[in-house]
Amino acid sequence: MAIAPLDALSRLREIGLGFAVSQSFFAACEMGVFDLLEGGPKTLDALASELKVEAEGLRRLLVVLHRLQLVERRGDTFSNSELGSFLTSSSRYHMNGLAKIEKFVRMWEYLPDALKTYGPVWVQAFGVPSQEIFVELYADPVQLRRFCDYMDSYSVAIGEEIAERYDFSKHRCILDVAGGPGGLSRTIGQRHPHLHGIVMDLPPVLEVTRERIAAAGLSDRYRTETADLFEGPYPKGADVATLSWILHDWNDEKALAILRHCHEALPPDGVLLISEMVMNDDFSGSSLWSEVYSLFMLVCCESSGRERTESEHRALLREAGFASAEILRSHGPRDLVVARKVAK
Ligand SMILES: C[S@@+](CC[C@H](N)C(=O)[O-])C[C@H]1O[C@@H](n2cnc3c(N)ncnc32)[C@H](O)[C@@H]1O
Repeated sequence: MAIAPLDALSRLREIGLGFAVSQSFFAACEMGVFDLLEGGPKTLDALASELKVEAEGLRRLLVVLHRLQLVERRGDTFSNSELGSFLTSSSRYHMNGLAKIEKFVRMWEYLPDALKTYGPVWVQAFGVPSQEIFVELYADPVQLRRFCDYMDSYSVAIGEEIAERYDFSKHRCILDVAGGPGGLSRTIGQRHPHLHGIVMDLPPVLEVTRERIAAAGLSDRYRTETADLFEGPYPKGADVATLSWILHDWNDEKALAILRHCHEALPPDGVLLISEMVMNDDFSGSSLWSEVYSLFMLVCCESSGRERTESEHRALLREAGFASAEILRSHGPRDLVVARKVAK
């Protein structure tokens, strides 16, 4: 069907100006707009004075935020919408971490390079090789915490979904492999008070993890352990392990090494839960965002780091020794692959 030129212009403008929508969102989070509105509605002038900015400019930002359904508006008085409330610093969901991605924003400028070289662009953007991405990211304590918030911005809400959909009653202990600040397993532990937990990661991130375990009231049941994803061995003692957004960072060889370590760490009746976007066999995803994320992995991780298809997941799991795998589809950002050492 023919597209009218004005319709084409509107749609293409929407695509081309997507960056300005993101930047408005980032600015509002960074400036603390949602935190200032946490206590209730405020006038434009009151907000402008607290933010130390010109009211006229701020109104334009707030009008955009209203269009995005992040704030509610009555004339020149603004309040958080239900959606905007997820973006306050006190929200247990840490979703303002979605705005803490300036490093990634910078790397996306080099997308053509990533395509030409079929590799990530850390060198072009920051002068460091991609093998050192986590070293670089964690060298600065502020960046480390921002990255932790970004991880939790996904993993807390997704952990809630997994806690509800998967039956943890038969498990005693959960191992969160490269769990970062532990949002996924912490949330599962809060929902299932019989579970103990181990969050495994690199030492700098585990400092933040311990703080968040304590803040979640889990210090008596959860602990952290340092282990290397590729060297192993992983901590023993858990009968269910999680890989939350880990496999997509790495190529098949490394993903297989990770799966083998998980297999070895689990008891014979152990279960591995993989929280990832599972792509269709034609490499399309269930939404634009899983497709964008697969490209994200090329820009930011490694050439064959990607969102994998169902067949790719099944093949890797089989090769690592898992006997069966079931895919639970989600309407949220990530699906769940349930892999068992022994066939069910
Ligand atoms: C994308 S984050 C996912 C974090 C967490 N699983 C989540 O979903 O919230 C990747 C994690 O892998 C960890 N990681 C990277 N390389 C590692 C290594 N060699 N050994 C252990 N952990 C590693 C990072 O520190 C980071 O926490």
